[in-house]
Amino acid sequence: MTSRKILVTSALPYANGPLHLGHMLEQIQTDIWARFQRSRGHHCRYICADDAHGTAIMLSAEAQGRTPEAHIADIQVHHQSDSEGFLVFFDNYHSTHADENLKWSEKIFTTLEQNGHIAIRSVIQAFDEEKGLFLADRFIKGNCPRCKAPDQYGDNCEACGATYSPMELIDAVSALSGTQPVEKASDHLFFTLSAFHDLLDGWVSADNLQPAVANKLREWIDAGLQDWDISRDAPYFGFEIPGHPGKYFYVWLDAPIGYIASHQNFCERSGDDFDSYWQSGSDAELYHFIGKDIINFHGLFWPAMLWSAGLRLPTAIYAHGFLTVDGTKMSKSRGTFIMASTYLEHLNPEYLRYYFAAKLGSGVDDIDLNLEDFVQRVNSDLVGKVVNIASRCAGFLRKKFDNQLSVDCSEPELIGELMAAGDGIAALYEARDFQRAMRDIIALADRANQYIDDKKPWVMAKEEGQEQAVQDACSVGINCFRVLMTYLKPVLPAMAEKSEQFLNVSLDWALLDAPLEAHTISDFSPLIQRVDPASIDAMVEASKA
Ligand code: MSP
Ligand code: ZN
Repeated sequence: MTSRKILVTSALPYANGPLHLGHMLEQIQTDIWARFQRSRGHHCRYICADDAHGTAIMLSAEAQGRTPEAHIADIQVHHQSDSEGFLVFFDNYHSTHADENLKWSEKIFTTLEQNGHIAIRSVIQAFDEEKGLFLADRFIKGNCPRCKAPDQYGDNCEACGATYSPMELIDAVSALSGTQPVEKASDHLFFTLSAFHDLLDGWVSADNLQPAVANKLREWIDAGLQDWDISRDAPYFGFEIPGHPGKYFYVWLDAPIGYIASHQNFCERSGDDFDSYWQSGSDAELYHFIGKDIINFHGLFWPAMLWSAGLRLPTAIYAHGFLTVDGTKMSKSRGTFIMASTYLEHLNPEYLRYYFAAKLGSGVDDIDLNLEDFVQRVNSDLVGKVVNIASRCAGFLRKKFDNQLSVDCSEPELIGELMAAGDGIAALYEARDFQRAMRDIIALADRANQYIDDKKPWVMAKEEGQEQAVQDACSVGINCFRVLMTYLKPVLPAMAEKSEQFLNVSLDWALLDAPLEAHTISDFSPLIQRVDPASIDAMVEASKA
């Protein structure tokens, strides 16, 4: 097997609020996949960053009476510690508000402009004269022109479903100042996406996209590609566009470029060869893990920009669905809008890593965190099945055999079955079908438990002349546990590390061929506690506050 060069990313979280469990779904999915790739001996880097620009961030900094720079620095510290709390390992975590990103944004924009892919057009927009700001739709409110419902934001009515231009709202006011907005024209820069029809047509036809994503992109292409407004007027927190004073890059222009910037920042420290990843014709693989809400940015604008700039295209884009809790959208009043940090105050991160793995497939379906199922699933699978194998065998080995495994642990049928499943499980991880990988691993744990049930070491231990049989059965059990924890290591890195201390061996996919024989293990200590339902209640209560 040749070693692949792989670069993976998660979407860059906005620096305007804390991470919640929806963000963690994405980061955990990506982290499991990256850890899996490394466990197979591939060169895999996982990079991310905070997405630090835009009007929303500028306004929340202002509301908190601090500079945007201070605001984003503070948020980034919290984002990074939340991710770390969930055992998400980034090779690099950067910010879009960074020198590398300024340099790359300018460079890519300049190339697009030289290639004739930037057009200038006048745009009429609502303007708040008191704040001196053009207003995005969501900052305009008024009464619905159709049903007169009060306090409707933006371009559609929550009461009757009507859609309209926000300036048509009756008594439209700026949500920022409460004053009546005026209409004002300003020049905007557009990226001429329409020029990339053939490129995108080919990109969407290649078989590197999930079917649902390809269909969605196909719909947009067939409907006619719209040029994309990439500039915003001052005041704006972002990068000023070179050669266009007073105009700033729209946050979504420099956000994906942040992937390149974060990777460059990493390569400068680590010595990885940056250029070989991004040149067209690169032999490295590039994957973007994203939520289904940002498919257009990654599936249309981003490949077109990269192509015009003479850079490589992503190998694939992997979109996932949205997280719901107990079957509905996360809700603050029900206490199901759960922040990453709130979860971590009450529960072990590996419970959620396992639960998400057990629910994630390769598609874009939404994923439900059902809190009752979560308790049941984690307790039954991890504690009741996987850890149980080790805890049932370890006691006999310690008491009677000084933690020594048998010289001959051959139980070809059982161990052979567990080993033979490895390639299939690896293929499921590769295809991001973690759900089926977990199902297969747990089925193997059932087989191992069945073996121990059949051998009954607790009965043999009381019988004369059965010492060897007890040691053999328990040694086989321990070997099964080793194989299963190796398969689970991308999902459960902390539990795997504790298992390595217990087994006195590193859990390495490539070493599984040699069973542990005449090998000394350490005393067993519990690898994970059962989920206490009271902790769930406490977390939900805390999330209501
Ligand atoms: N800043 C942009 C991404 C720029 S990438 C160049 C952004 N940020 S975000 O903070 O709103 O979302 C970050 C990621 O989290 C996105 O992929 C988004 O789909 C994902 N999720 C946010 N809420 C989510 C759920 N409730 N469920 C699953 N994923 C969700 O978009
Ligand atoms: Zn209405």
